[in-house]
Amino acid sequence: MSSAPSVKDENIVWHQHAVDKHLRAELKHQKPAVLWFTGLSGAGKSTIAGALETRLAQLGYHTYLLDGDNVRHGLCSDLGFSEQDRRENIRRIGELSKLMADAGLIVLTAFISPHRVERQQVRDMMPDGEFIEVYVNTSLDVCESRDPKGLYKKARAGEIANFTGIDSAYEAPLEPEIDLPAGDASIDELVAQCLTALNERGIIRQ
Ligand code: ADX
Repeated sequence: MSSAPSVKDENIVWHQHAVDKHLRAELKHQKPAVLWFTGLSGAGKSTIAGALETRLAQLGYHTYLLDGDNVRHGLCSDLGFSEQDRRENIRRIGELSKLMADAGLIVLTAFISPHRVERQQVRDMMPDGEFIEVYVNTSLDVCESRDPKGLYKKARAGEIANFTGIDSAYEAPLEPEIDLPAGDASIDELVAQCLTALNERGIIRQ
C-alpha cells in the first residue's frame, strides 16, 4: 500500500513558475487578501460576505466567495461536523483560499470555523496583513431566534448532534481585524464598516 506523500518528502520539490502571485495581482490592479468571516450558524456570515462581494465587484475588484454550505456540497462533501471533520474542513478551505489569493483574488470565506487554533493556522499560512478575520458577532439568542434553516430547533430537539452553540463549542476571536455588531446593525452599515476597514488596510482604494 502506498502512503500519502509528505511535504518533508525529499522527492517532492516546489516548482517556482514564471507567472507569480505578484504578476497575477498586478494584472488585476489589486492586492490579494483573504477576508475570513467567522461566527455562529445564522449569524449572517454568508449574507454579509455576499453583500460585501457585490460591492467589491461594483468597485471593479476580482473576488471569490467560498461559502460553508456550498463547499460542503462538493470539495468537502465527505466531511461531517465532528471536531476532526471540522478541522479538516477548515484546513482545506485554508489551502484553497491561499491558492485563490495566489491567483490574485480577494477571497471571502463564510464558515463557522469554531476553533481559534484552526483560524490561527490559516492566518499563519498567509503573508502578514493578508488574512483579515471578520467576526460576525451575533449572539446565540439572536441566531436561535432567527433560525433561518430551522436547524437550532432540530438541535434543541436532539435531532442534530454537535450543533455549534448548542452541544459544540464556538470560540469567538480575541482580536479580529473587523468586529461586526451583526445582531444590531443593518447589512448596509456592516458592509460600509468592512469597506472602511479594507480601505484603512490598503486592500481597496475608495
Ligand atoms: S464548520 O464548523 O466546519 O466551519 P461550516 O461553516 O462548514 O461549519 O458549515 C456550517 C453550516 O452547516 C451551518 O450554517 C448549517 O447550515 C449546517 N450544519 C449542519 N449541521 C451542523 C452542525 N452540527 N453544526 C453547525 N452547522 C451545521
